Amino acid sequence: MKKLTVHVNSGYDILIEKGLLDKSGELIKTVLKGKKICLISDTNVNTLYGDKVKALLVAEGYDVYTYIFKAGEASKNTATVIDMVEFMAENGLTREDGVVALGGGVCGDMAGFAAAIYLRGIQFVQIPTTLLSQVDSSVGGKTAVDLPQGKNLCGAFHQPSLVIIDSNVLDTLPAHFFSDGMGEVIKYGCIKSRVLFDKLAEEDIRESIDDVIYDCLDIKRQVVENDEKEHGERALLNFGHTCGHAIEKLWNFETVSHGEAVGIGMVMISRVGESMGITESGTAEKIISVLEKYNLKTEDTHSVAEIVSAMRADKKRTGKGIKFVMLNKIGDSFIKPIDNSDIAKVFGV
Ligand code: GLY
Repeated sequence: MKKLTVHVNSGYDILIEKGLLDKSGELIKTVLKGKKICLISDTNVNTLYGDKVKALLVAEGYDVYTYIFKAGEASKNTATVIDMVEFMAENGLTREDGVVALGGGVCGDMAGFAAAIYLRGIQFVQIPTTLLSQVDSSVGGKTAVDLPQGKNLCGAFHQPSLVIIDSNVLDTLPAHFFSDGMGEVIKYGCIKSRVLFDKLAEEDIRESIDDVIYDCLDIKRQVVENDEKEHGERALLNFGHTCGHAIEKLWNFETVSHGEAVGIGMVMISRVGESMGITESGTAEKIISVLEKYNLKTEDTHSVAEIVSAMRADKKRTGKGIKFVMLNKIGDSFIKPIDNSDIAKVFGV
């Protein structure tokens, strides 16, 4: 079994092994010391793995209360999270009890937020079931729901007590979900590791997916340990996300997935960096070729002007400019603030 420890607050482990879901009961028993567990999952994942995980937890002596929500981003709102915490209260969960999030990013974000606010915070364990959530959202303690005004606007930093990653569950994912996660995997190579980027370009990483997940999370671990609340370095994890988020918004968070949008965003910002003489020439082409290898898009049908306009209208943005993440070269990233008055010009619109 591969293991990483994230040294934030009292620290927590990330465990990676094929088939680990079968050991989830005993592993959770090492960190959740209460009697009751609220197991949170969506309608799709619950059908696949809900009964199994519940049985394993019951075998460890827990009383398990399963909360299932309708799969999809549309559920990720304050109403669902309030329903979750009311469900916990109805079933008498105390401060010693815990939450287990079994699902993808929507599930982990929402269950983590419910755990953060119920009784002012109880423990939770992440069992991510998509590549995207395995390499990114299950680690680092960002929890949130969407508001009508924008995505992830209502949330809290609340670190999990344990993250259990079983890459066998990726076998039941439709292929486009694997590509979606690869958008974030490629991002890690771009921002911090030329070695990882080259591996993605040259090898069949399906064969060594646990090593790739480990490499990504080792990068994320270091970044989060240095800057848990994103006052500085953690923003590097948002490479490609500023343009990507604008693209997702233009598509109403449908049609183009998060990983796809991030991929297009990485290409856009690398082209900007190259035209500014900051990013090593040829970087955008290298990123395009790896994105294509994993069936990801490299451009959007919206014009650059439309994307820039959506980016500037983002309600999360304040102040006089946008902090972009740029590359000096593959594996070497930095944060570059650009004034509002210069944004259209650097994007060539
Ligand atoms: N997904 C970016 C972060 O966790 O900071």
